[in-house]
Amino acid sequence: MSQSSAADRPLDHGILVLDYGSQYTLLIARRLRELGAYSEVIDSRVKSPPAGLNVNGVILSGGPDSVYEEGSRTLPDWVTTLNVPVLGICYGMQLLVEQSGGKVRGATKREYGRAAMHVRSTKGPASVLFETTSAPQTVWMSHGDDIGAIPKDYETAGVTDEQVIAAIIHKTLPIAALQYHPEVAHSEKGADLLKRFARDLCKMTLDWDGQARVETLCKHIQDVVGTGHVLVACSGGVDSTVTAALLLKALGPERVTAVFCDTGLLRKNEVPWVAEKLKVLGLRHLEVLSSADLFMRELKGITDPEQKRKIIGRLFIEEFEGYASKHKEFTHLGQGTLYPDVIESAGHGAGAKVIKSHHNVGGLPDRLALKLVEPFRWLFKDEVRSIGLCLGLPDELIHRHPFPGPGLAVRILGDVTPERVKMLQEADHVFISALREHGLYQVPWQAFAVLLPIKSVGVMGDNRTYQQTIALRAVTSSDGMTAGVADLPMSFLTRVSDQIVRQVHGINRVVFDITTKPPATIEWE
Ligand code: XMP
Repeated sequence: MSQSSAADRPLDHGILVLDYGSQYTLLIARRLRELGAYSEVIDSRVKSPPAGLNVNGVILSGGPDSVYEEGSRTLPDWVTTLNVPVLGICYGMQLLVEQSGGKVRGATKREYGRAAMHVRSTKGPASVLFETTSAPQTVWMSHGDDIGAIPKDYETAGVTDEQVIAAIIHKTLPIAALQYHPEVAHSEKGADLLKRFARDLCKMTLDWDGQARVETLCKHIQDVVGTGHVLVACSGGVDSTVTAALLLKALGPERVTAVFCDTGLLRKNEVPWVAEKLKVLGLRHLEVLSSADLFMRELKGITDPEQKRKIIGRLFIEEFEGYASKHKEFTHLGQGTLYPDVIESAGHGAGAKVIKSHHNVGGLPDRLALKLVEPFRWLFKDEVRSIGLCLGLPDELIHRHPFPGPGLAVRILGDVTPERVKMLQEADHVFISALREHGLYQVPWQAFAVLLPIKSVGVMGDNRTYQQTIALRAVTSSDGMTAGVADLPMSFLTRVSDQIVRQVHGINRVVFDITTKPPATIEWE
């Protein structure tokens, strides 16, 4: 993935979150942005702050290291020379304590989960972070080390029922440190503390909201594209659709062309549905590449999941490249790349085993010789959704369930044929329509049907049947990395099952997948 220059960022000021490897680091930045304070995440090992970002404050994240162990990550010198407010969280707290002459020790018992913190009255500048009340507040702990002795320049701002030091602040500087995680929703006043940090200590105006995002991103697009013409690859998903809509707003309908590759592996009525939504927003140039025959031909006889994914990824690129090379007017390629992808490709996900070779239209090759315009490469998905709503895209599009790049091919186990695609499309349509009709669509984070490669015996009327099986999958999740099973009423599921068997010719059995991720994955292939 190509890297964009520092000047690409939508705002020139914000809070910098130094990542020490906590599972919650991205959540810190998300929370701050939800509160209206723009923020960015960088690896704690970088040698200087990002060029072009006026740093209003620094947050040191948690992390798995122990400050007293050889090779543990340290506090970069440049943080101190910035002279801005600093908030250390968990490992970040321990770094501040160690650096200022306090003592960090291995906790006698690992603390994980809720604790009750009592706030103490303090005088240092960071006392504005805490509301002093006599009632204890719930805080979320997750640590193996704790503070044995606080540095002499600090005062205690909070202790738990168990007498663990939960919060300290510097006596004269705008520095605070927390043993708990304010970014986690279980920390009762965590969001309030982050808001006070941004507003009262860093003196930021909390104006990073939907409208501000649209305005700054439109300006950014106009600067990057100049008088050029953008080609945007649409997949029907939220990110690429909102990218197209934002490009339209920034550049007008004559300088944006959306290309939709109809692989024949999309959901029922997908292409005309999304095209219609974009047309309403003023899109005039939409090219639908009718590639279904090509995809079916190349997938014929392929049953191995990885092989299917590789073929589809290659065909996507070839189709798109073919189109772009015939139209020389394009100067830029619009992509819906998101901030977590950018951070991950900068190394955080390095070394992970490949479980599935994921792909999406964001994976187009450099040899296209188009400059990239990626308005969302600094944004989180929820921010993209809010931009989509500000731009007038309908809620039903913005809050759709995720859909995998390789489409229905990874939901058809075994051979992918036009007949089996049709069968799955119909069954999936029954399931998803029923979820919507019963007001249950938002209960699962993602729901879909899968066509299994097995036949079983049934009875319809007085006749024996020997037909195919559909599995229904409905999961809860926040990011697709882990998943639970969505709690759908059994009466609803049996009604859907009846409807599928009645309406979809060739299906005589429906099962419901009750496996979490891990050990299973969300998709079946
Ligand atoms: P798994 O099956 O890996 O899926 O548990 C996690 C989430 O990712 C989606 N998914 C994909 N998305 N390209 C994508 O853009 C892909 O190749 C791909 N494979 C799976 C899946 O639908 C789920 O939301």
